[in-house]
Amino acid sequence: MLDRSNAPFYRWFVGAETNININALDRWINTDVANKVAYYWEGEPGDTRTLSYRELYWEVNRLAWAFRELTGLKPGDTATLYLPMIPELPISMLALTRLGVIHSVVFSGFSPQALADRIVDAKAKVLITVDGFYRRGRVIRLKEEADKAIRLARDRGVTVEKVIVVRRAGVDVPWHEGLDVWYHDLIGEAPVKAYVRPVPRKATDVLFILYTSGTTGKPKGVMHSVGGYMTYVYNVFKWNWDPRPGDVFWCAADIGWITGHTYIVYGPLMHGMTQVMYEGAPDYPKPDRIWALVEKYDVTTFYTSPTLLRLLRKYGDEWVEKHDLSSLRLLGTVGEPINPEVWKWYYKKIGGGKAPIVDTWWQTETGAAMISPAPGISLVPLKPGSATYPLPGIVADVLRYDGSPASPGEKGLLVIREPWPGMLMGIWRDPDRYVKTYWSMFSRPDKGVWIYYPADFAVRDADGYFWLLGRADEVMNVAGHRLGTIELEDALLTHPAVSEAAVVGAPHPVKGQVPLALVVLREGYEPSPELEEELKETVRSMIGPIAVPARVLFVRKLPKTRSGKIMRRIILALVEGRPVGDLSTLEDPAAVEEVKRAVEEFRSLMREG
Ligand code: WT7
Repeated sequence: MLDRSNAPFYRWFVGAETNININALDRWINTDVANKVAYYWEGEPGDTRTLSYRELYWEVNRLAWAFRELTGLKPGDTATLYLPMIPELPISMLALTRLGVIHSVVFSGFSPQALADRIVDAKAKVLITVDGFYRRGRVIRLKEEADKAIRLARDRGVTVEKVIVVRRAGVDVPWHEGLDVWYHDLIGEAPVKAYVRPVPRKATDVLFILYTSGTTGKPKGVMHSVGGYMTYVYNVFKWNWDPRPGDVFWCAADIGWITGHTYIVYGPLMHGMTQVMYEGAPDYPKPDRIWALVEKYDVTTFYTSPTLLRLLRKYGDEWVEKHDLSSLRLLGTVGEPINPEVWKWYYKKIGGGKAPIVDTWWQTETGAAMISPAPGISLVPLKPGSATYPLPGIVADVLRYDGSPASPGEKGLLVIREPWPGMLMGIWRDPDRYVKTYWSMFSRPDKGVWIYYPADFAVRDADGYFWLLGRADEVMNVAGHRLGTIELEDALLTHPAVSEAAVVGAPHPVKGQVPLALVVLREGYEPSPELEEELKETVRSMIGPIAVPARVLFVRKLPKTRSGKIMRRIILALVEGRPVGDLSTLEDPAAVEEVKRAVEEFRSLMREG
């Protein structure tokens, strides 16, 4: 069943066939669940759409029919989705996986350049996007961005054959006859009760790809499997959320990230859950939007990130107290370490002291939670800030850099010692990078020992509880989003004024971390506020708004090793006001003074919040 013969390319449920649609949709159609609400969707302006399991089932079938008959999508093809939080996103994902087409969802906040990189890498035949959507009361015209990406991809030899456009905002869009097609026209071609049999897939086929940041400039296409992902997500959802028939589940993430794939689309649907799905900004038009929605839909189970909790807590408790939150029975968090004081606020103020907090540690690569409380099995006593214990089947450990086990209370590196069904299958078209990134830190291939390295710091306390302490590599966590420092540096280096760039994740009271850039200019360029703005704009257009540095500071020198490697460790210590440690490998000590001066002002700014 588990094939270990080609480790670390483990393959789960070898010989089995399935399609995730069967468990997410078809199994419900002849049961009471068919009449149950699958999604209570709410747009930012307050418009709503309710979809029952039966309606969802038929819309997915019709769309799958149209994809197959009219766009010629075949099993094993790839399609890129550049969509905001509207029902057509889960519907499209399900219609694609029903046909065995691999989806690659790209967060709608990414720039055309970032979208083009992902289209090219995935060689997508079809792109699904939207005319526009609402964010903070404004219409974001996404189709225009998508068009730019298609042109950029074409220049790099990848031609998208069809662009399917959902009408959401009703705004005028640039149109290319023969290439563009409206979603409603496409689905309108399908018979009202078109049925498409879920295409049997091998358990070891790719279900989807999702790009995530790593320690090089190029994002990684994390591949998840048909059988392993489905099985693991089904189980972990049950362990995490103890689903009950009357539950209303709300995962306030974006489907553009793995949290949304697992906990808005596949996990809840496989459990016949009723969900809330929200389009817009969490604090728009007022800071109580989230709590108003919890009250309106009687949400029982709410799952979000520490960064959102910090933001909402900052607005003040009066916004919470306006609402009856007594329906809540379980609360969850994910994405970064949760500060104990935020944990306590969440527990007391939001959960009324009766809803356990399910702090889930996991990654894009792991498919679903790995270390977390499991109220669906049995709840252990909670400690604010600890994700408690590994879930069943997960063999986690904390090691020192030399590979020896860390003592209780000693900070070390988290590892996973055994494969698990939800694990990534590999990196799309880059098997070497898969082995190098995740399996080379502690493995001993000569001895047949393979150890998965997530690149997170961790401590296990005397009671065996795990405390996750953030990334151990060159990856930042900005408002719960993963961003590679090198990715930002590469973006800055595309500007003609930049000779060298170093980016670090500086601590921030609400966002956890924010990118801080240090830049050495080329001969002939002078530092100025205008140039700083221009460089921020460069990052915005290369990656997207989430990646824009809080500041771009100009220095004449960066701290580097004698072999020329930028010492981000030193920059980060200076930013955090810590001792810089060992400087013996430094090429020129003057660089330290230079950076110290530059970050001084930034530090006082951050202290004020
Ligand atoms: C990184 C993975 C998994 C969905 C969201 C992020 C950090 C995640 C926790 C947690 C402490 C956490 C880790 C991890 N992280 N959850 N409960 N406590 N840190 O997915 O973008 O793949 O990022 O998020 O550093 O490596 P991602």
